[in-house]
Amino acid sequence: MARILLLYSTTDGHTRRIAEVMATQWRAAEHEVLVHDVSLPLRSALSSFDAVVLGASVRGGRHQVFASEFVGAHLDELQQMPSAFFSVNLQARTPPKDTAEGNPHVQQFLASTPWRPSLVTVFAGKLDMRRYRWKDRLMAMSAMWATGDRVWPWSVREYTDWAAVRAFAEAITQAEAAT
Ligand SMILES: Cc1cc2nc3c(=O)[nH]c(=O)nc-3n(C[C@H](O)[C@H](O)[C@H](O)COP(=O)(O)O)c2cc1C
Repeated sequence: MARILLLYSTTDGHTRRIAEVMATQWRAAEHEVLVHDVSLPLRSALSSFDAVVLGASVRGGRHQVFASEFVGAHLDELQQMPSAFFSVNLQARTPPKDTAEGNPHVQQFLASTPWRPSLVTVFAGKLDMRRYRWKDRLMAMSAMWATGDRVWPWSVREYTDWAAVRAFAEAITQAEAAT
């Protein structure tokens, strides 16, 4: 049984949903999981966990600043323990941006930090126009149309591959068990 810290950074809640799916899978396998919003203070020491996973979504070309702030503040500990990172963004809905190597947001994040998580991946996120302010709807619409997806100011589209989410969760516990 592993003790896993699963941190997430979200604007509209989809990354938290992905984190909860991973946590449910781990708990079913009798792992102990703390799911925690990375923008809030963490009361436990990282050393009390066997592995740390960070998931962050992208908005306006960048992951939330809370994600990189956490990594910067805990770099030494993160480098010494099994860790994983996943990004959630909409560029990941089409190849070659559906892999960590091909996704510009993942590559930008990794270039911004010396942290080298043992496992890194990217998941396509969710578009929910109904939640956004008009300015954001227009920005999202123009980005989607520019890449061939016809969406409208009321569109809701979920692009996440949930089997890939479950496979990543499984890979994390397997990698942790092998250490
Ligand atoms: C205003 C806005 C800006 C966004 N900017 C980007 C972007 O620059 N690149 C990208 O790939 N996805 C972008 N997205 C898509 C989000 O990453 C996607 O909706 C994701 O699922 C959000 O996750 P969250 O609900 O956890 O915040 C943007 C979405 C919105 C609403």
